[in-house]
Amino acid sequence: MPREDLRRMLEAARHAPSATNQQPWHFVVVQDRGLLQQMAQAVEHKFCSLLERSEKVGAPRRMEAYLRYLRRFSTFFAQAPVTIAVLQKDYDLVDLNAIELILGQQHDPSPHGVAAAVENLLLAAHALGYGACWTHGPLVARNELERLLGVARPWRLFAMVPVGLPAESPPARPRKPLEEIVTFLP
Ligand SMILES: Cc1cc2nc3c(=O)[nH]c(=O)nc-3n(C[C@H](O)[C@H](O)[C@H](O)COP(=O)(O)O)c2cc1C
Repeated sequence: MPREDLRRMLEAARHAPSATNQQPWHFVVVQDRGLLQQMAQAVEHKFCSLLERSEKVGAPRRMEAYLRYLRRFSTFFAQAPVTIAVLQKDYDLVDLNAIELILGQQHDPSPHGVAAAVENLLLAAHALGYGACWTHGPLVARNELERLLGVARPWRLFAMVPVGLPAESPPARPRKPLEEIVTFLP
């Protein structure tokens, strides 16, 4: 993939909004086939052990079915010419713990900004004629992937985004109609 195209996608990502403009993101561009294979193996291995464990503890069948379903969509990143590992770090301007204690709920806006960056990345990839996919499934093996990628705290793996020329043009996935998802208050 031409470096200029990658740059344009990453440029779009870095223009995303973020709370108090902290830009709590970092992007690791992975193109090494060997590393991508190792990462996919780590994910596959994790699913195998999760399935074994769920059987051992007698987890509900729908959980096992979900794990099997998710597994199918969690390692294809290794086939893409480029996979961008998106990292996130928590908001660090204020004492979040204190705020959360008083509020009694989580209040870290950081993941929202990183999500916006991922969306910008997807839109830019699409505009340039590439296919890209936001994937969270691989994060079942988050610790293992972070080790392979050399991710150290305060950074955490947030999403994996494989990018490449689309091998097919599937029909658009359906969306709920506006009537179902919008409430106009009088
Ligand atoms: C937070 C998030 C996590 C996702 N994780 C995965 C994933 O692990 N594997 C995958 O194939 N797609 C994943 N997707 C893509 C969704 O399946 C996809 O966006 C949805 O089915 C609608 O399809 P469309 O985006 O092509 O319209 C994820 C999307 C989001 C926003």
